[in-house]
Amino acid sequence: MQALQIAHATPGPVWSEQYCGGAWLLSGYDEVAAALRDPRFSVRRAARWINSGLGPDGSAPTPAQLQFKRVFARSLLFVDGRAHRRLRDVVLPGFKPAGLQRQAPAIAAIAQRLLAGIDADGAGEFDFVAAFARPLPALVIANLLGIAHEVPEEFIGWAADLATFIGSPTPQMHQTLAAQQALADMCAFFTQTLADTDAIASDGLLAWIGQARQEHRLTAIEALAQCCTLLFAGYETTRNLLGNGLLALLRHPEQWALLQTSPQLLRGAVREMLRYDSPVQYTGRRLVADVELGGKLLKLGELAILHIGAANHDARRFAQPERFDIRRDEGNHLSFGHGPHVCLGAALTQLEAEIAFTALMRAMPDIRLAAGAPAWQETSAYRALERLPVTRKLLH
Ligand code: HEM
Repeated sequence: MQALQIAHATPGPVWSEQYCGGAWLLSGYDEVAAALRDPRFSVRRAARWINSGLGPDGSAPTPAQLQFKRVFARSLLFVDGRAHRRLRDVVLPGFKPAGLQRQAPAIAAIAQRLLAGIDADGAGEFDFVAAFARPLPALVIANLLGIAHEVPEEFIGWAADLATFIGSPTPQMHQTLAAQQALADMCAFFTQTLADTDAIASDGLLAWIGQARQEHRLTAIEALAQCCTLLFAGYETTRNLLGNGLLALLRHPEQWALLQTSPQLLRGAVREMLRYDSPVQYTGRRLVADVELGGKLLKLGELAILHIGAANHDARRFAQPERFDIRRDEGNHLSFGHGPHVCLGAALTQLEAEIAFTALMRAMPDIRLAAGAPAWQETSAYRALERLPVTRKLLH
């Protein structure tokens, strides 16, 4: 529960400590929202990550390292202003509500197939993360991208290696190298897929990206960067929502029972899962001007950690923030960010989670936490379960 402890220990909504290399830490809801909206808080903060592992001994960077640097620098997540809007506009059509609604039957079919295939042990026990929370988002993104053939098994591993790297404020060398290799493999996969019209559906996101490339609205490296961003940004986050959400429900059996008897509460329940245990705990920004915020002066060039998880537990915004309450109705959480970089996948995620929990309630109404403790990943930017042992009654 590290993130929640940070929220309690906060001496004010904006504070500077030896945390994440001395960056400012913004933990208040209003302050985090203000920074997310403010162009003086630039997203171009990734130079340290991007350059890490580029041969500190002066040796020439490898092709994988160079590609890593070039792709990251062109992801819409790390570009500001007009250049960002141009990249965002290319992928935006893929997230229109009508298109997403058309995906609902496919998402439901994937969820049902995964649930039907769950291989519980003799005691009815299985790991919810491995069996459901991990594969579902990967298959849904493959569908959104319009990948016509079988999704490569490595898909999840690539996204996970990138998430481990990005999720760590000080990645170790082996994590950096794994992320560089994952990105190189992803780029090779997307280069091949974009070049093969039989391999992509005409109404999927890859088709939009391919068309933008042909019309010279994207360079080749920009096209690859957005493909990789979509896979990585949509996988780890949704996986965490499904795992954290089920854990919250099972730890609050009265809420789980309420949801089962009142499924119309599901929309709000997913919102509360996102607020209560935010899948992305924080994002970062670099100051491109001096800014006064929360009574502090943040200076040009300094780094700020925008703590979404803490903001979502700000008692000035949410009454009794530590209470998990699926009937809560206090407006927006910040789990999808806010402002120009607000999550493109928010509506898809909401839809996917509603479908997933509906399918789960139908298939396993008696699901419970197993005796084994849930295991968390060692990452600070994400709130990510490695394992969630659960049991279901066996229907003999
Ligand atoms: C951006 C969270 C699912 C694609 C973001 C940001 C957050 C976030 C916090 C803003 C980052 C920042 O401002 O620095 C989440 C959470 C999700 C989720 C919690 C699920 C539980 C998805 C999905 C997709 C997606 C399913 C796509 C398939 C993106 C993209 C951006 C983004 C492309 C960058 C937008 C931009 O920079 O303009 N997400 N996300 N996300 N997300 Fe999500």
